Amino acid sequence: MLKAAAELMQKHIILDTDPGIDDSLAILLAAASPEIVVDGVVSVHGNVSTEQTTRNALAVLELAKAGHVPVYKGCDLPLVKESLLSPETHGDSGLGYAELPEPLNQPGAGHGSDYIIERIMSEPGEITLVCIGPLTNVALAIRQEPRIVENVKEAFIMGGAIQYPGNTTALAEFNTFVDPHAAHIVFHSGMPITLTPLDVTYQCVFTKDDLNRLLKINSPITKFIADSTRFYMEFHDEYQSIEGCVINDPMTLALTFMPEICDYQDLVVDVDLSTGVGLGNTFADFYNYEKKPKNMRVAMGVRPRLFMEMFLERMEKLAQGAFAQGSESNG
Ligand code: BDR
Ligand code: CA
Repeated sequence: MLKAAAELMQKHIILDTDPGIDDSLAILLAAASPEIVVDGVVSVHGNVSTEQTTRNALAVLELAKAGHVPVYKGCDLPLVKESLLSPETHGDSGLGYAELPEPLNQPGAGHGSDYIIERIMSEPGEITLVCIGPLTNVALAIRQEPRIVENVKEAFIMGGAIQYPGNTTALAEFNTFVDPHAAHIVFHSGMPITLTPLDVTYQCVFTKDDLNRLLKINSPITKFIADSTRFYMEFHDEYQSIEGCVINDPMTLALTFMPEICDYQDLVVDVDLSTGVGLGNTFADFYNYEKKPKNMRVAMGVRPRLFMEMFLERMEKLAQGAFAQGSESNG
């Protein structure tokens, strides 16, 4: 395809993220994916504080030679609940054992939720949201400017556990548990949503063999992946007896350009806001007892190796410098 035609077909994305080890892998995948252009990254609290997720987003973009992508700092607290961070999963820095140089760039001026509003309203129907952290920024943006709901192209959201156990409480997934009120606002906003819950992400494990394949290339990218996922694998081993690690966030990003990785069901999905053991639990009314309109498309089946082969190939290309600025640069 001619380069100009290919560029016209690229999806323009805002990545709302809390890096985070798997968030960082999603940033690397974005930088290695010619089907998408990352217009901007918005940071949010979650795996670590927003101060740290902002710094990590800048540093990982620079590692991927995508330092031209602007980063906007978003909310540092959930809408209603107290803050909950997860150093046991992602390390104190959010990047496991990886150490990246201080980023050269600074975050852009203005709040992340204002950036979301400004981008969506200035190009109606063109901007895809990819949300891989707690949904605080997006919920705030909806409350500030409800018209973004009709004007966003679509939203891909990593969150929830529909028929799968929680990874933070017995019932709740991390992103929906950390800010269930934000998830409630977004889920019921009317935005066109594709949800990637733990039901599919936990079928897809990044293994030591996958890592060893990448380590055949000696590069700062493969070193970063090795140092960050080593911590993440230790967490999965200790807490969940999983060999390897589940990389939820890059799978969510991948669905924007490779939807065939998953099978989907249109469902009525809600999030529990009651202050008991169910807080943050996401559940689907499969038989639609309540006769409500379906509010999202949910990935419920997955082809794990289809995703993983694509991910590994793109990480290899990134590590070999194929996407260095000045060549097939992306983002
Ligand atoms: C989600 O929570 C975080 O630990 C990950 O970054 C991912 O977005 C998985 O539950
Ligand atoms: Ca995340």
